[in-house]
Amino acid sequence: MLTRRKFAQSAAAAGAVLAFGTGSAAVPAWRERRDLYPQGVASGDPAPDSVLLWTRRQPSGGDTRASYLLTVEVARDPTFHDVVVRGKAEVTADTDWTCRFLAAGLKPATEYWYRFTDGEGNGSRVGRTLTAPREGDARPVRFTFVSCQDMSIGAANAYRRMIYEDERRPRAEQLGFVLHLGDFIYEVVNYPDEMPEGQYRGRRLRPLFKYPDGDKFRDYHLPVTLADYRTVYRAYLTDPDLQDARARWPFVPVWDNHEFSWQGYQSIQVLGGEQRPAQTKKVAANQAWWEFQPARVARPGAHRDRFEAPAVKDTPITQFDENGFGLGADNASAVDSLTIYRAFRYGRNAELILTDNRSYKNADADGSAVAPDGFPMFIDEDTARVIDDGRAANGGKPPATLRFAGRDVPNPGVDQPMQSYLGPKQRAWLIERLSVSQAPWKVWGHSFGTLAWRTDLANLPEGLGPRWPGTGFALANGGYYAEHAMIYDVLRSKGVTGLAVVAGDKHSFWAGLTSADLPPRAYDPVGVEFVTGSISAQGLVEIGDRIVKPDHALRALYYTGEHREIPAINYTMLHGVRAALALSRTSAAEARKLHNPAVAPHLKFVDLGGHGYGLVTVTADWLETEFVCIPVPFERSESADGGPLRYRVRHRVNRWKAGEQPKLAQTVVEGNAEYSI
Ligand SMILES: [Fe+2]
Repeated sequence: MLTRRKFAQSAAAAGAVLAFGTGSAAVPAWRERRDLYPQGVASGDPAPDSVLLWTRRQPSGGDTRASYLLTVEVARDPTFHDVVVRGKAEVTADTDWTCRFLAAGLKPATEYWYRFTDGEGNGSRVGRTLTAPREGDARPVRFTFVSCQDMSIGAANAYRRMIYEDERRPRAEQLGFVLHLGDFIYEVVNYPDEMPEGQYRGRRLRPLFKYPDGDKFRDYHLPVTLADYRTVYRAYLTDPDLQDARARWPFVPVWDNHEFSWQGYQSIQVLGGEQRPAQTKKVAANQAWWEFQPARVARPGAHRDRFEAPAVKDTPITQFDENGFGLGADNASAVDSLTIYRAFRYGRNAELILTDNRSYKNADADGSAVAPDGFPMFIDEDTARVIDDGRAANGGKPPATLRFAGRDVPNPGVDQPMQSYLGPKQRAWLIERLSVSQAPWKVWGHSFGTLAWRTDLANLPEGLGPRWPGTGFALANGGYYAEHAMIYDVLRSKGVTGLAVVAGDKHSFWAGLTSADLPPRAYDPVGVEFVTGSISAQGLVEIGDRIVKPDHALRALYYTGEHREIPAINYTMLHGVRAALALSRTSAAEARKLHNPAVAPHLKFVDLGGHGYGLVTVTADWLETEFVCIPVPFERSESADGGPLRYRVRHRVNRWKAGEQPKLAQTVVEGNAEYSI
């Protein structure tokens, strides 16, 4: 049990007001007024003895008060007869009327209810939360992982399904928390009144918000100020399904790219290929995230419950250090205004290790020189691999040119650092956490995942269309080989097993094994990986016509049929081009007989059209992930279960010993997943 002093320290580190016990102050009678708390309530980052609680009490119309003093109550029952914590939290305009409250002195693995009440008795809705099991608790752990909720173009039916199923489980089998892997908001938005028929790529645009300040790039509106970023969170959290989910479980959030800027990195925006300094936007994005996400994260400054924004200017960053981090010009101040990578034990069986994959990332290498015409999405893997290594390629003697498609092209990595998203400091921290953890399963919450997607375009039959100009594999998505090798080599040498990467960002479901490289280079998987489909953001199958036109000679590698009813692209990645092309003339089972085992020895499941969530069960002996896939959430489902399921598929891995490779066993529990296996 932590001492009160320890609690006070952890509350300060989390930027939260702290309370123990029930105190004696008179409490105004609670009367629910959801209109005054329009973003609902939330809880986050559960520990065995405490959890962060959150709400936003917005000013009533015409009310000019500078603050509200809220009473926070935590009870063992939803009717608040047995209140175990009572405290006060003040909200002001400084935090956009949000508050973070650390409820301490709680019991482990226990269900609690909480609510906020102002001085007049105007109350928030009641939230439910759960503390973490204590470190020695060997009971199975269950949680879901989600990402990519673009509420401007879709509905959060996945959360409704998650709630419906969890309410029907026995208490011992219910979820402990929701791991949110980012793209909680989409900062790039199209306004419906500016778009033809109010649509964007076939989706109905919701008039959720307009930026009070804002910037515009092509059809897209972008946030510029703190007021802009706050506007998105406020609007998103009025969604009833997202709000119900936050009121039912503690969330454990990290950000991906869209919490700051679509193609941004560090404190730099990239728009149309052009770099723009965005230090003030990075600070604003971090502050809004901190105000709206109840996470135990470190920010600078002495103030207990307020984000103290460093003064930065949007000054161009022209010099980079040897790792590709921008020097001077406030880049470090902006990035360091919030540190979200963190780790915590959750019971005996799991350690959660969460990384920030965007703030310390270096600039993307430009692979366009090895992207041949006529093959949408694909570049040459062999040359991309060299570019990724940067100036460390070929033992520190990188080739000045790359031979590809019968010509020599300049090597864009020749004077660049190796591609990295973690940066040296975070990478060292991650390696240390993975190495010292005593938990049998190390769950690495990784916003975008490590699994490479590639195929064997060199095997295309004659006469179909363009010929692949290389001899190796065609890469659609992958990279960071050198960085992954640095991490995985240590795990292998120390005999660390039980690595399970869980990821989002890809707007698609993937199950496989993570390895720093793939054949014909060294293939030595050190862990399992699961990527969840998006809550609502569009996947490749849906937006594919923008990438490959219906009259394209290689259309059958991407889709089969007039209306994309068969996502052949899944088979292109899983089984190779011969199997994908066979889908035009035969069944999925027959097509799979043409499987090329060299293409994707690391992949077990691919669905580039799936939405939903992943459900993880962790026991001492095995870890299992269930993909719960729903149809494209064009509109909010009217039914209590959130609408129909497309499929439910499980992948289980038993614990493996040092020196062994993990193995995934697949079960299709319900629905049709034949084009993904
Ligand atoms: Fe996303």
